[in-house]
Amino acid sequence: MRRVAGRLRRLRWVAVPAALVFLASCASNAPQDTLKPHGTIARKEYHLFLGVFIVATLVFILVEGLLFATVARHRHRPGRPEPVQVHGNTKLEIGWTLLPALLLVGVAFPTIFTIFDVAKEPTKNVLPVEVYGHMWWWEYRYPTLNISTANELHIPVKTSVRLSLRTIEPGLPAAKGEDFAAGVIHSFWIPPLAGKQDVVPGRVNKLTIQADQPGTYKGQCAEYCNLSHANMRLRVISQTQQDFDAWVAQQARPVVKPESGDAAAGYALFTGRATCIGCHTMQGVQGATARVGPNLTHLMGRETFAGAMYDITPENLNRWIHDPSAMKPMRPDEGTGMPNLTKTGPHLTDAEINQLVAFLTTLK
Ligand code: CUA
Repeated sequence: MRRVAGRLRRLRWVAVPAALVFLASCASNAPQDTLKPHGTIARKEYHLFLGVFIVATLVFILVEGLLFATVARHRHRPGRPEPVQVHGNTKLEIGWTLLPALLLVGVAFPTIFTIFDVAKEPTKNVLPVEVYGHMWWWEYRYPTLNISTANELHIPVKTSVRLSLRTIEPGLPAAKGEDFAAGVIHSFWIPPLAGKQDVVPGRVNKLTIQADQPGTYKGQCAEYCNLSHANMRLRVISQTQQDFDAWVAQQARPVVKPESGDAAAGYALFTGRATCIGCHTMQGVQGATARVGPNLTHLMGRETFAGAMYDITPENLNRWIHDPSAMKPMRPDEGTGMPNLTKTGPHLTDAEINQLVAFLTTLK
């Protein structure tokens, strides 16, 4: 008994970390779980994973089982003679070469079939969306609906949403002949709806997502893209066709210009001295069409802002304008991210920031 206890004590340096790693997989609230698919594409990928995983697990158990059984059975004991030395066994060697080869062929068929199936261009009930990876937020443009939004992608349920993914950085100088500078590599990842798709300079990569039910699904950028890579989150909000149509109709509306009070003063600042329209789109406001930052026309219709990191509240917006990089690290001096407008450019005062927030909170 004491010998067993001694052995266990020696094993604790391995056993405790192993147990922690194992327990870490037991989260009850894991919104980015690839093993809980919520749409056709994700389900196909999940089924492929499951099949390969089962085969791999059986092989693992067989190989490790044989290994441990052999070690246990033939281990050295006092008085045992030297075991018989064996060199080469043609039948066995052909067997353990052929069997894995056949297994791999068996796994290759469903893999290749699924790759082509998931990648094919959908033809029925398709909604095209252009996705742009910025440093460090996501821009979505709906070319057939003439609207655009940021970080939170709205989609109708049971529709094949065909994403065209590009990387862009309008804050940086563009190459000759290009409208916008290409950004760095990002990866669009919304685990409950589809696997990752890289977003690469000079290419338009495609990805189809589809959701069965209305709901909010969380995702994030999955390719290291410099300073705020970890803060480049996203949400996909799937809605019934009716709710989606209502959302689209709201998104198409221009800004309602406030007539009085702090909100009116904020509007004047936004379109004037505060220089906000130099970077942000504001539908219905002359000249406010820039894409350096998100389209703010319907800001309060979103749940979050700043790379889907913070809830949209007047307090958070106030903190944000005071010092954006304190909430999400950015490098505005190098052309990426929102500058601190209290320290540079218009040198906004506290009172002016209150007026700007008063205006922003009218943007429903
Ligand atoms: Cu974008 Cu990481």
